[in-house]
Amino acid sequence: MISKKLHKARSYELQKGAEIEQKERPLFHISPYIGWMNDVNGFSWFNGAYHIFYQYNPYDTVWGPMHWGHVVSENLIDWKYLPAALAPDSKADEKGCFSGCAIPARNGSLALFYTGVHRGRDESGRKADVQEQMLAYGDGLNFKKVKRNPVLTGDILKNGWSLRDFRDPKIVIDGFSYKVFCVNRNEKGLGQIISFVSRDLENWRFDKVVLENDGNHGIMWECPDYITVEGQNILLFSIQNQVSNDVFTASNIVTYVLEDEELGFSCENIQQLDYGIDFYAHQTVTAPDGRIVLIAWLQNWDTCGYRNAKEKWFGQGTIPRELSVQNGKLLQQPVRELEKLRNGRSEGQVICLQGKPVAIDGIHGVHNDVLIEAECMDCSISQKIQVHFFKKENNYLLLEYDFMTGEVVLDRTHCGSDKAFQHRVCRKYERLNSDLNRVRIRCIQDRNSVEVFFGEGELVLSMAVYNREIRNGISFYADSAVHMNIVAYKLEKSE
Ligand code: FRU
Repeated sequence: MISKKLHKARSYELQKGAEIEQKERPLFHISPYIGWMNDVNGFSWFNGAYHIFYQYNPYDTVWGPMHWGHVVSENLIDWKYLPAALAPDSKADEKGCFSGCAIPARNGSLALFYTGVHRGRDESGRKADVQEQMLAYGDGLNFKKVKRNPVLTGDILKNGWSLRDFRDPKIVIDGFSYKVFCVNRNEKGLGQIISFVSRDLENWRFDKVVLENDGNHGIMWECPDYITVEGQNILLFSIQNQVSNDVFTASNIVTYVLEDEELGFSCENIQQLDYGIDFYAHQTVTAPDGRIVLIAWLQNWDTCGYRNAKEKWFGQGTIPRELSVQNGKLLQQPVRELEKLRNGRSEGQVICLQGKPVAIDGIHGVHNDVLIEAECMDCSISQKIQVHFFKKENNYLLLEYDFMTGEVVLDRTHCGSDKAFQHRVCRKYERLNSDLNRVRIRCIQDRNSVEVFFGEGELVLSMAVYNREIRNGISFYADSAVHMNIVAYKLEKSE
């Protein structure tokens, strides 16, 4: 038996979601069945399929009562919609089913562990929406919330820690125990990541403060994750109110690469995960072949104003990305499964252009995998290359790289938006190799996004595109001392 609220959401999405044609959506990125999505949740591998849930308001294209939407895939590229998994239909999550994770549980079911928001009293006794952690078990389609919910409650927090901000649990299996990482706001009002342990997912004890914001990294933190990539332990999280500086470009995301010395965490390295303006709230899964795959919300709270009000959906996931580590740096590459969509290869060269950007025969449309290798003969003066995506006359999304300064620009200012908070990002490219005269760039373009991977994936930038109309042009430009070789594949699905 499902609740009235969930039944209502499922009936609504079935009817309204079916009204959206495939051509109105991204081809291989996740988008909500209908309405709004923000964070991806519960990225997991269960019974032979990848599951992704997402923060979901089926009833409108803005944030609202949070449900969990649900998609499945066997290959990370072809996603099938399943009925909404959770609705805010119990006392403990009456104000929303916020972000969380999913893990195959010992009892053979898929456990969803997420934040329930409900009316209560905060740490100073004031009436407030408070956050506690919830558990539901299911067969991969339907989920039942356990009676004891919420199972990880606010009374476990130390004095002064916020009950209004206690969320986004991410479970990792630690021997015979489960360990969960949550975000919280400490007595100074700053974000912290705290952990708890349990043997049965229902009874939890406090473990430790994993990391505290020293005040230099925004205010509140969200969506923690803890992974081990090629022997390197890594803590990931998203930051609210990050002020732009040399290291961080925006309220976005950072990675701490850590050493775990007897459960202590020391920051060895810190980097931003994605330098685009539309990236937040990532999730990871270990694929059956051992790869760690990451996906995120291809949007950011600061950039949500950039939308096409006519679309019946808003928000999307990034392309799933394979993670690796080189020289202490976390690298990302689009999952190799994407290459199966390659169909139709075109290539061309752009050599020493002084004039206008040029189109290359066969390279156009909005679903492309574009590989660029560029070489600069004289980098003592500014020498730029450019790619214009979604082009129609003077409107396009600009990708630019300057060999002299090492600066990358990704800019959609002239890409047909009505209003946006932020349109442009500029970032210095610090490469892994020392060959400053050459650059390798891969661009993954879908109907509503461009994701750019430099080199081995040491610099990645994501940008959402919500044009009023589809613009099919692509063109290329190189300054006088630059040679550019381009290979592009159309990305297509057969059905
Ligand atoms: C991150 C976030 C989470 C929260 C969810 C609510 O984008 O703010 O911290 O659980 O979105 O939708």
